[in-house]
Amino acid sequence: MQLEIVKDYDALSKKAAYILASQIILKPKSVLGLATGSTPIGTYNELIHMYKNGIINFSGITTFNLDEYYGLNVNDKQSYHYFMEQHLFNNIDIKKENIHIPNGKANNMDVECQQYENSIKEAGGIDLQLLGIGQNGHIGFNEPNEKFEALTHLVNLDTDTIEANARFFDSIDKVPTQAISMGIKTIMQSNKILLLASGENKAEAVYKMIKGNITPELPASVLQLHSDVVVIVDEAAATLL
Ligand code: PGA
Repeated sequence: MQLEIVKDYDALSKKAAYILASQIILKPKSVLGLATGSTPIGTYNELIHMYKNGIINFSGITTFNLDEYYGLNVNDKQSYHYFMEQHLFNNIDIKKENIHIPNGKANNMDVECQQYENSIKEAGGIDLQLLGIGQNGHIGFNEPNEKFEALTHLVNLDTDTIEANARFFDSIDKVPTQAISMGIKTIMQSNKILLLASGENKAEAVYKMIKGNITPELPASVLQLHSDVVVIVDEAAATLL
């Protein structure tokens, strides 16, 4: 793992955006794995800024998002479909047909998950996967004690995750209890991985991911086994390192 500690969230967002931009410039037909949550918003803003200034374009880019809540419509304001439109896709020139996000309303979840895996393969695999990390060490929605061998599947969300994500909903009982998520194996098959963590509430998970045992109890610890991972953390998230 290559660890970069930067001063604050702005510096983290800039550095992450430069890595993504360099991937896009070097390979205009890149397949990017994208993440939702608070952490990547600054990175997406930087990418939009670079796009508007003519430094990068997304016309050849294909994307696969990590996850989506189970049971939410794509136009639900809490869905990750909506999040991605607002924070990135509506502001760049990506082709709609090149955007992939799991369908949380699919009739048959097994088929949806298998098709998602097939689409990633057909696109040639993910060149660069962007990740956040949960306070419990989850990546995507792979909660503690998920199998490392899992591909895209329906997951039950941890109480910790439901509590952490309640801030985006009117009340905690509105937070879905399940989601479709790329599995750990799907994530590990990406050529490169870029993980971002900001804030003191992530310090313990970051410490365990980098210095702890490789164990399903801390899903992100599996990244120690990947040969090309860049971890960017701000000083607050690095306090235990
Ligand atoms: P956050 O979520 O960026 O909103 O902190 C990260 C995650 O849960 O993976």
